[in-house]
Amino acid sequence: IMDSSQSSSDENDALINDLPSAMFWDVMQIKKWQGFWFEPGLIKCAMKFNSSFDAKHDDVLLASSPKTGTTWLKALCLCILHQNHNIPENEDLLTKDNPQYHVQTIESSIYSTKPTPDLYGTSSPKLFHTHLPFSFLPDSIKNTSCKIVCVARNPKDTLVSLWHFFNSIFRANQEPYPLEKAVEEFCRGVHQYGPYFENVLSYWLESRKRPEKILFLKYEEMIKDPKGEVKKLALFLGKPIENEEDLEKVVWRCSLDRLRNLEVNKNGSVIYGVPNGSYFRKGMVGDWKNYLNSEMEDRINQTTLIKFQGSGLEF
Ligand code: A3P
Repeated sequence: IMDSSQSSSDENDALINDLPSAMFWDVMQIKKWQGFWFEPGLIKCAMKFNSSFDAKHDDVLLASSPKTGTTWLKALCLCILHQNHNIPENEDLLTKDNPQYHVQTIESSIYSTKPTPDLYGTSSPKLFHTHLPFSFLPDSIKNTSCKIVCVARNPKDTLVSLWHFFNSIFRANQEPYPLEKAVEEFCRGVHQYGPYFENVLSYWLESRKRPEKILFLKYEEMIKDPKGEVKKLALFLGKPIENEEDLEKVVWRCSLDRLRNLEVNKNGSVIYGVPNGSYFRKGMVGDWKNYLNSEMEDRINQTTLIKFQGSGLEF
């Protein structure tokens, strides 16, 4: 006799099995579910999240398409929500572990290589993250006053960052994956959590309808005016930072240079099967210019124009 969760899990396996398939970078099978591409294990977790996550009004969800500034946003929200700004420099949470560990990506928790708190069981307020598009969120998140902070980034820089990241994971001692192919797959949306365009747009449109619920940040604006954006973020989260010195502290603590050089991010520790250090690269706006030729640039620009047309979203 099977219990009902077992039979629904078997039904989900059968459903996932029948979904359209593609190979990502010749190494990872991905499947298309409700308009987006994922590896099958993630779909199961996304289903569980959607059907059984019970958000409380004081929970905070961070949302982002991969490689758009997730790690940075996780670090910042951690400092704003869970830390006294006067904590000594070498004792803050970021020195203990990678932001990816402190703020879990809910649908990836099964891949975590370390024991992590159960987001379905722990008490509120919870700070957690998802790469899933808005439409995938459980009703308890959509319909309570639980806040959402989204970060998004220029598609060309996102693609270049994605390309480096997957090269480091899938092709460590090989030639990089052909960039033209990566661009094409990105534009067609056939990649983990893709299409990027619809994923980002889902939060953008919702943030325009409900600005009190969803704060939409842009990576480029955070780079340009980190203190201003952190101030805005802290205010939105209900933990305003008035003091200039505290603002500077948060910005510095979460800066790429500091995080990259912390022992915990250098010594080979791993989360989600990925070395902690691989979340930190250049953090530059416009790095795409060093990689994309004019055909690739046009291909992404054209796609962006079509997808974001009329939405008011620009990078
Ligand atoms: P680049 O590959 O362009 O350098 P994600 O965290 O969503 O995976 O995004 C990774 C990108 O954010 C990488 O971009 C990485 O270098 C950059 N990044 C990571 N931590 C950062 C920080 N603290 N400040 C600014 N950028 C950061």
